[in-house]
Amino acid sequence: MARDHGFHPVRIKRIIQETADTRTYVLDASFDYQAGQFLTFKACGTLRSYSMSSSPATDPELTTTVKRVPGGLVSNWMHDDLSPGDLLEATLPAGVFCLRETGAPLVAFSGGSGVTPVLSLVKTALATTDRRVRLLTADRDDESVIFRAVLAELAERYPDRFEVHHHLDSLSGFVTESGVKEFAAGALDADFYICGPDPFMDLVERALLAHGADPGQLFIERFGLEEDEPAGEETEGTVSIVLAGKKHTVPRRSGETLLQSARRAGLSPPFSCEAGNCATCIAQVTEGAAQMKINNALDDDEVADGWILTCQGEPASPHVTVVYED
Ligand SMILES: Cc1cc2nc3c(=O)[nH]c(=O)nc-3n(C[C@H](O)[C@H](O)[C@H](O)COP(=O)(O)OP(=O)(O)OC[C@H]3O[C@@H](n4cnc5c(N)ncnc54)[C@H](O)[C@@H]3O)c2cc1C
Ligand code: FES
Repeated sequence: MARDHGFHPVRIKRIIQETADTRTYVLDASFDYQAGQFLTFKACGTLRSYSMSSSPATDPELTTTVKRVPGGLVSNWMHDDLSPGDLLEATLPAGVFCLRETGAPLVAFSGGSGVTPVLSLVKTALATTDRRVRLLTADRDDESVIFRAVLAELAERYPDRFEVHHHLDSLSGFVTESGVKEFAAGALDADFYICGPDPFMDLVERALLAHGADPGQLFIERFGLEEDEPAGEETEGTVSIVLAGKKHTVPRRSGETLLQSARRAGLSPPFSCEAGNCATCIAQVTEGAAQMKINNALDDDEVADGWILTCQGEPASPHVTVVYED
C-alpha cells in the first residue's frame, strides 16, 4: 500500500460569502498543512483541488476559498448545493507552493481566486518571520476583490513590512509587463510567488525574468489544467493500464505520460494538479519501468515499491503496465 494518499471525510462548519461569486468554506479538519498547500476534493464523480486560504500559523480553523467558474462542474456544485454540516471527501494537504526558509523579501502577484494560497503565504510570512512582504492583487473590478478587509487589516498591523496594491482592470486595464517591473523594482533579491489565470501568470513571469529575476526565485501555482501536448511518434512497445480491474493496452508513444496514454485508451483515470504535487493520479508499475519528470508527492519507499505519479511518469522500457488502485 502507498502512504495515505486517500480521501478523508471533512465536515463544513460554516460558509462565508466573500464576494458575489466567491465563498470560503470553514472545514472541521485537523490536518497539518503548510501555507500555500491545497486539498483535493472528490465531488460530482471527479476531483478538484482547492488551496487553503487560512494560515496554519495564525488561523485556528482551516479554510478553502472557491470561486465560481462559469459552466464549471464542481465550483458551481459547491456554491449551489453545499451547506454547513455537509461532508466533503478530501485528500491530505499537498503542494509545494510554500515558503522557503530564507530572509529574502516576498513579492507576490495574484489574479482573481489566485489570492487564496497567496493570502495563506502572506499571513504566515508576516506572523512567523521578519520578512518584508509586498502583494499585487489583480481583479476585474472593485466588487470582485476577495479578502480586501483582511489584507487591509494586515497592512495596518504590519505597516513597515507589508504593502498591498489592488490592481483593478476596470480602472487600469490588464496588468502590464512594465507595471510588474515597477512593482518589483528594488526587490530583485525577493522570492516571487505568482498565482492567477494562465495569461496573467505568464505575463508576470516573463516580466520578472526580463527584469533580471532568478528563475529559482519564482514560485508559480497553476490552477488551470495544462493542455495535453500533442502525442509523439509511435515507438516500439506498449502501455497497459489496469483501471477498475480491467486491462487496456495502447501502443507506446514517445514523450507521452502514463496518464496521457490512459486517456488515449479512452479511460478517465483520476488526476488533479497534473504537476506532480498531489498524488491523485497515483498507480503502481507492475511490469517494466517508468520514470517521473517531477515528483513532489511520493517518498523514496513508495517509488521503490513501484508507485508512480502517472501525470509525470513516462515509460522507460518497451512494455509497461500500471495498475490504479480500486
Ligand atoms: C493546485 C490547485 C489549487 C487550486 N486552488 C483553487 C482555489 O483555491 N480556489 C479556486 O476557486 N480554484 C482553485 N483551483 C481551481 C479548481 O481546482 C477548479 O479547476 C475550478 O474550480 C474549476 O473547476 P470546475 O469543476 O468548477 O470547472 P470545470 O468543470 O473543470 O470547468 C472549467 C472550465 O472549462 C469549461 N468546460 C468544462 N467542460 C468543458 C467542455 N466539455 N468543453 C468546453 N469547455 C468546458 C467550463 O465551462 C469552465 O469554463 C485550484 C486548482 C489547482 C490545480
Ligand atoms: S495529478 Fe497531481 S500528482 Fe499527478
